[in-house]
Amino acid sequence: MSASHDEDRLLHHDYDGIQEYDNPMPRWWLYIFWGTIVWAVLFWFNVPGIGVGQGRIADYDASVAAANAARPPEPVAGPSADQLLAMSKDPAALASGKTVFGAYCVACHGPDGGGVIGPNLTDAFWIHGGSPAAVYATVHDGVLAKGMPAWGQSLKPDEVTAVVAYVISLQGTTPAAPKPPEGTADTAAATPASGS
Ligand code: HEC
Repeated sequence: MSASHDEDRLLHHDYDGIQEYDNPMPRWWLYIFWGTIVWAVLFWFNVPGIGVGQGRIADYDASVAAANAARPPEPVAGPSADQLLAMSKDPAALASGKTVFGAYCVACHGPDGGGVIGPNLTDAFWIHGGSPAAVYATVHDGVLAKGMPAWGQSLKPDEVTAVVAYVISLQGTTPAAPKPPEGTADTAAATPASGS
């Protein structure tokens, strides 16, 4: 591949006694060089506004979408009903749940859960279901159309879990100014908490 010294040609100039050979670049080097130029021309065709392709960013988004379709993200697994019920009787969990409730929930549900803008959380009547899983889903995902925020987006996962356990523990308590029942009776949460 590389040129031998026999093929080297002495260039016809001589500066202060210094002469030089015309040494061509190795073939492999030239092929790569020309290859990059050809590639650059082809590449321009995938630039939006210039070429016919949709562009690198759309290509990237398409391959991410294809990868996500091939392996869909797993749904966020909340704690099990048993874990929530156990936490609703665990003083440490209830203490942190009460802190979260005091910071984020009292404005709409009252300091004792009796209800203000939001419904009464102490009675057996639920708009969105009173089972531990249903309460968890309501708190985590919110009811945005009715003004209940999606707390899964702003609280840490263990804060959501703790405040749900605290809400479950409020079942059967007597708030100072209870809001009248809303929704339908669902004692799924009331039964276990009444033992604590
Ligand atoms: C900005 C006001 C607001 C805040 C803050 C708020 N909520 Fe609510 N919440 C609501 C409203 C309004 C509803 C009723 C939604 C409906 O009518 O569908 C509701 C409903 C609920 C329900 C379902 C009640 C049922 O009957 O099914 C639960 C549980 C609940 N909130 C828990 C919480 C917890 C826990 C927090 C704090 C982390 C919280 N909420 C903070 C306004 C609020």
